[in-house]
Amino acid sequence: MEPLGNLRLGVNIDHVATVRNARGSAYPDPIRAAKIAEEAGADGITAHLREDRRHISDDDIDRLVENLSVPLNFEMAATPEMQAIALRHKPHAVCIVPEKREERTTEGGLEVAREENQLAHFIAPLADAGCRVSIFIAADKRQIEAAARIGAAVVELHTGAYCDFHAEGRLEERDEELTRLRDMSAFAHSLGLEVHAGHGLTYDTVKPVAAFPEVMELNIGHFLIGEAIFMGLEPAIAAMRKLMDEARV
Ligand code: PXP
Repeated sequence: MEPLGNLRLGVNIDHVATVRNARGSAYPDPIRAAKIAEEAGADGITAHLREDRRHISDDDIDRLVENLSVPLNFEMAATPEMQAIALRHKPHAVCIVPEKREERTTEGGLEVAREENQLAHFIAPLADAGCRVSIFIAADKRQIEAAARIGAAVVELHTGAYCDFHAEGRLEERDEELTRLRDMSAFAHSLGLEVHAGHGLTYDTVKPVAAFPEVMELNIGHFLIGEAIFMGLEPAIAAMRKLMDEARV
């Protein structure tokens, strides 16, 4: 099957803010990183405003909304506080993620199936305000069906397990997870959902996911910000973009 369209790269800039906050300084500035990412070919910028504000701050979101030329994908937990912030800014996209204070990163996907009614009510005003609502979930049929039922426009499939298996050399499990991601991308698309993917992707793991014809966007952060230490942000993003394009041919 031919790819359904151009594959977009969303660059997640959270960890520029993590470095800034480690010293309580004003630098490095995540908005400066976002502008460089735009120059390097990012199609969008992703930022996760966590409840504990451990990286991105409210002021960062204000400045992103003011300064970005590409769409903002605002990642947030399904809380009234975050809903109010999203409704104030009306970003292009809102990605609903599970959030636990004690986690180091977003560990799993959202339990949509168990909280269907609540989530349907939660996302309705965001969709009415014109935001594309994306739900971050595991590559699981039940969750995808529930995401479609609650009226989400997009599902973002969690690639963390696939990337972890790869890093740990558990290649059989990695390949099983990849097959699951591929099948579930096709399934989500068949239900009318736009399919995105992300979490933990690196130069070594991006191509097989980028090759799924139904996947329209990848959101990548931690690896790119890490690579930027060694080669600069613009070349790090350009190299990822190139791998994505190669996978798509
Ligand atoms: N997509 C979502 C929904 C996420 O929560 C994250 C991490 O914030 C990413 C993509 C990017 O993951 P990583 O930083 O590991 O590339």
